[in-house]
Amino acid sequence: MGYAAPVDAECDSLIIFMTVYLNGQFLPLEDAKISVLDRGFIYGDGVYELVPVYGREPYRLPGHLARLQRSLDGIRLANPHSAAEWETIIRQLIARMAFADQGVYFQITRGVAKRDHAFPIGVTPTVFMMSNPLALPTPEQIERGVAVITAVDERWLHCDLKTISLLGNVLARQAAVDAGAAESVFFRNGYLTEASASNVLVVKNGVVVAPPKDHLILPGITYDAAFDLAREADLAVEVRPVPKNEALSADEMWLSSSTKEVLAVTMIDGKAFAGGRPGPLFRKMHALFQASKRRP
Ligand SMILES: Cc1ncc(COP(=O)(O)O)c(C=O)c1O
Repeated sequence: MGYAAPVDAECDSLIIFMTVYLNGQFLPLEDAKISVLDRGFIYGDGVYELVPVYGREPYRLPGHLARLQRSLDGIRLANPHSAAEWETIIRQLIARMAFADQGVYFQITRGVAKRDHAFPIGVTPTVFMMSNPLALPTPEQIERGVAVITAVDERWLHCDLKTISLLGNVLARQAAVDAGAAESVFFRNGYLTEASASNVLVVKNGVVVAPPKDHLILPGITYDAAFDLAREADLAVEVRPVPKNEALSADEMWLSSSTKEVLAVTMIDGKAFAGGRPGPLFRKMHALFQASKRRP
């Protein structure tokens, strides 16, 4: 691990001197500039990934690169790099950072063109990558769990694509922050989908249950990790639609994401949930996840 969260002032100085990657070049953040006509800025026309890095090793990188390809296919944008090229760029950026545990963020947009909704022809995509210190949950959040609010899922019908158009997620996450909560948990037509920046899993009668990876949720890499770890540990798992009343009366609820890892929900809409304490299967999953981070 080796990286202790810096105080804010140190964090700011890390950001000023941070090296980022833009269109084939590593350069200081302040020199990384793109056109206001970039379609990412004008239309949110792009996709992104966030890869957690533990001790300078990317976690489940092939899964992230496969999901990137899926997102690019979904918006009909050719992948500007092979998986090997992506890995090289990612590792070169990781090596330039002063901290060992990182969150590598990268996005690809459809590039710079005269404003017109239809795809421009012959335009080079914009590729941007940066790496920040990995902001993991605090020991207190792990120990006590976190609060969430419930929300109607008002997003579009391709939540399976990791697009940079995130307004629905942004508004929901802000609603959670306004309510002093960590996340908004979404329900669509009476069924659990996911949260504004996490997947959601529940536990009922010892079974780990989560909604299927259809077009209504992001296929989370941490969701996959949690299922792989649960199966390896012989926990019972089920992937199926989860009705709202079942989710809200479950024995446990977990959030999963690359920066939250696996986190227990202990308050929903201002009321204690599941006894107000992380449950036994969460504790088991948390331990399994921590051990999996040290695997090659
Ligand atoms: C909407 C949404 N769902 C789920 C996730 C979890 O995905 P992952 O585990 O790959 O980080 C994220 C992560 O950012 C997200 O934004």
